[in-house]
Amino acid sequence: MRLLVHSGFFFAVGEEEPAYALTPSSKLLVKDNPNCLSSFVKLPDQGGGANNNSSRQEGGDATASSSAFERAYGMPFWEYTDRNAGFNALFNDAMAEDSGMMNLVVGDCCGAVFRGVESLVDVGGGTGTFARIIVAAFPGIRCKVLELPQVIGRLASGRNSSGKLEFVEGDMFQCVPSAGAVLLRMILHDWKDEECVKILKKCKDAISSKGEGGKVIIIDIVMDEKKEVDHELVQTKLNFDMVMMFMLNGKERTEKEWERLFLEAGFQRYKITHLFGFRSLIEVFP
Ligand SMILES: C[S@@+](CC[C@H](N)C(=O)[O-])C[C@H]1O[C@@H](n2cnc3c(N)ncnc32)[C@H](O)[C@@H]1O
Repeated sequence: MRLLVHSGFFFAVGEEEPAYALTPSSKLLVKDNPNCLSSFVKLPDQGGGANNNSSRQEGGDATASSSAFERAYGMPFWEYTDRNAGFNALFNDAMAEDSGMMNLVVGDCCGAVFRGVESLVDVGGGTGTFARIIVAAFPGIRCKVLELPQVIGRLASGRNSSGKLEFVEGDMFQCVPSAGAVLLRMILHDWKDEECVKILKKCKDAISSKGEGGKVIIIDIVMDEKKEVDHELVQTKLNFDMVMMFMLNGKERTEKEWERLFLEAGFQRYKITHLFGFRSLIEVFP
């Protein structure tokens, strides 16, 4: 308990025989908290990937074309989620918990971002948690969620009761359904540069709106460890960078690296807004 108090997971009340209370950090692990992150915390242990011994031994060759995960497990990450129902469920729940945190910022920070957007496609939008938050916060927006069969297959129905949310099974490398704007939340850091350019080109083709809403909205990490003053924030971003490299051969990018991808995919300009915590919001305009 002393260690957990020291690490900020409990408050100790009293000296001789202390009582313990939850802190803001440990409250995030309590199941009935609407912002619970318990599946997200379990993820590295259950999936193997970055924490698995064989994967660690494989980790040395960061230049190989397959990820350390693929070399350790004999298949790419997304095939592994398809073939392992238990891990697939945990992964999707973890992503849903993480994107559920967006309800803390969407209403206050994203009004201007979604102005002029009537329809949106959330590419790789998981089980639709963020899409649900958006259609609730902005009733004028209809949203499609494009996802792999192993994610869509677990969902009870393809549409929500208001008819504003629709799930579409597909592969973002083949086709992104047409919509006024396209959303990519925590997607591009999973992929190498060439793959990101392919995804971004498909997103550009999918944008139907010529007005102010016609854009790609990216929520992802922007690295800036030289200028960043918050040590823990930098540490978190660097940890994500390592996990992306091991699991998927992906990476976290600096602004320069992001800019290169946008220009190569044929976009004209972009605007970065720092959201909360370690993520940024990047609007990219055709
Ligand atoms: C890191 S998760 C992010 C999920 C969600 N956007 C979020 O922020 O919670 C990446 C998602 O991309 C999906 N995905 C991977 N490859 C895909 C593909 N080729 N086409 C569509 N979705 C894909 C995965 O199923 C997964 O749900």
